[in-house]
Amino acid sequence: MLKPIKSITSYSQLYRLIKDIFRNFSNPFEGKDVISLDQFDKTSIIRLFKETEELKKSNPKELLEILKGKVAALVFFEPSTRTFSSNTAAFKRLGGQTIEHQNPLVTSSAVKGESIEDMAKMLEQYCDVIVMRHPIKGTLEKVAEAVEIPVINAGDGIGEHPTQALLDMFTIWEKFKKLNGLKGLMAGDMLNGRTVHSVIRGLSIFPGNTIYLLSPKELRLSREEFKLYSERGIKLIEIESTKDIPPDCNFWYWTRVQKERFSDKRVYERLKLSFILTKKLVNGKAGKNTLLMHPLPRVGEIETAVDADKRAVYLTTEPKNGMYVRMTLFKLILNNK
Ligand code: CP
Repeated sequence: MLKPIKSITSYSQLYRLIKDIFRNFSNPFEGKDVISLDQFDKTSIIRLFKETEELKKSNPKELLEILKGKVAALVFFEPSTRTFSSNTAAFKRLGGQTIEHQNPLVTSSAVKGESIEDMAKMLEQYCDVIVMRHPIKGTLEKVAEAVEIPVINAGDGIGEHPTQALLDMFTIWEKFKKLNGLKGLMAGDMLNGRTVHSVIRGLSIFPGNTIYLLSPKELRLSREEFKLYSERGIKLIEIESTKDIPPDCNFWYWTRVQKERFSDKRVYERLKLSFILTKKLVNGKAGKNTLLMHPLPRVGEIETAVDADKRAVYLTTEPKNGMYVRMTLFKLILNNK
């Protein structure tokens, strides 16, 4: 999880690199960006989850000292309910403060044509961490390159959404006490769903996991991604019908078909409700311990009748865990004792 340094051209860069290497032993998160699940390994994920478990039990008043005097910039070029609110709540619940840009193409100097790199360099003068969402895949890597302070990817187009995947994986780990040897189902938009990409990357770090992928043919994972992930050892099995859902999955991870990624809205209309999570399907195919998950928002692909099922965690445990996982990440990244 080291911030890359392209070449060492000065003593100060060498000093920084050596300091980073030593720091990495005690806290692999300190000062780091969170751009992709590929940055993580088993040790760092389990460390994060054990600390999150502890933080959940803490006295909220005591947590207020952790980020006292720190400021986070939240810059969201795409709409958000959960990621924006839970990051804001997480930072404030640790005693920090936030600078908030929602809709910066209307409210910031981005509207005058300021580059994303310049914007980030300005925010770096005011704050300790940047949390950014952007519609273009790969933008967060550019932002992280441009500044020295940590940058957190809050979703980059169809790329990744690493903190959502971490909260999803934490929810699975909390229930089953493991992240290996799992059997899961992911349904909906595998092509454009950035949370799907991050969860698969995350679960591919642990051995023995199998994920069934249920989607219309047009919304399968890209062949490049399917090959890339499969080569890491995770078993991916593509299915085209709910009839092929195997019994006793550890989790079902339903997703929305991502309307905003379609150039032809007629295609979206045709595909949007290809697979609906119904009470009948849950009763017929889910195991008694199967977690019913969804990163949300939902737009018709889960019947509201499923919400009351005790296995359904998308409106309760998942978003709550999102706040706690983000609190722990901020604490570790900014390493306030
Ligand atoms: N899960 C998620 O990213 O939701 P928002 O788009 O509301 O942040």
